[in-house]
Amino acid sequence: MSGAKGLDLTLKIWRQKNAQSKGKLETYQLNSVSPDSSFLEMLDILNNELIEKGESPVEFDHDCREGICGACSLYINGEPHGPGKRITTCQLHMRSFNDGDTIYIEPWRARAFPIIKDLVVDRSAFDRIQHAGGYISVNTSGNTQDANAIPIEKEYADEAFDAATCIGCGACVAACKNASASLFVSAKISQYALLPQGQVEAKNRVLNMVKQAEKEGFGPCSNTGACEVECPKGISIENIARMNREFLKASIAE
Ligand code: SF4
Ligand code: FES
Repeated sequence: MSGAKGLDLTLKIWRQKNAQSKGKLETYQLNSVSPDSSFLEMLDILNNELIEKGESPVEFDHDCREGICGACSLYINGEPHGPGKRITTCQLHMRSFNDGDTIYIEPWRARAFPIIKDLVVDRSAFDRIQHAGGYISVNTSGNTQDANAIPIEKEYADEAFDAATCIGCGACVAACKNASASLFVSAKISQYALLPQGQVEAKNRVLNMVKQAEKEGFGPCSNTGACEVECPKGISIENIARMNREFLKASIAE
């Protein structure tokens, strides 16, 4: 701790046994939390206290704890990934809060992300969208062309790279009043649509991924831009416009 007084916090946390049971907010008091600890470390401290008291710890999703995997998906005071721009929940620090604060912590709310337990939701719908077309087929028979042999204009390479930084966290869905997955799907489509390597399967990719997103129960995009604001990787809604153009092109070619 950096000499600062620890934070005394009231935590209102969503507890739910399983997908079928009815959940509710439970209140916990946590005192002397270091402002230097991360948000997930704060939850670790709470869980240690709960375990010591013989109570069941709060389940929450996490893996890398450095903004890479997209697992740590929480609403904090109603905001996906909490306060702070372009960060994931695991990159949020307790210095963003004040002594005496009440913090509401909830799982993503979307029909296509059913709650598994407490703060953990099932985001496998995103995996199924990826499986529907988020890949390229490469001949690895030994005659594979060196990728560097295909020149790509820097502008396109940069845009494709930006789209490829999507970590599949689902904050875009959580931020959207329609629970639309358009920002995620468009990022996964754009990273290939901008590159020559992505052209071979381009038509089927966009048709199948958009169809799968609808099948999973994600809503339509109504262009509010809330997704872009909450995206920890700054994925632009320009990708949604590109996805729509790709979709139109593929539908006409059918
Ligand atoms: S587009 Fe942004 S908010 Fe949506 S899944 Fe990708 S990284 Fe997360
Ligand atoms: S735990 Fe991996 S992005 Fe937060």
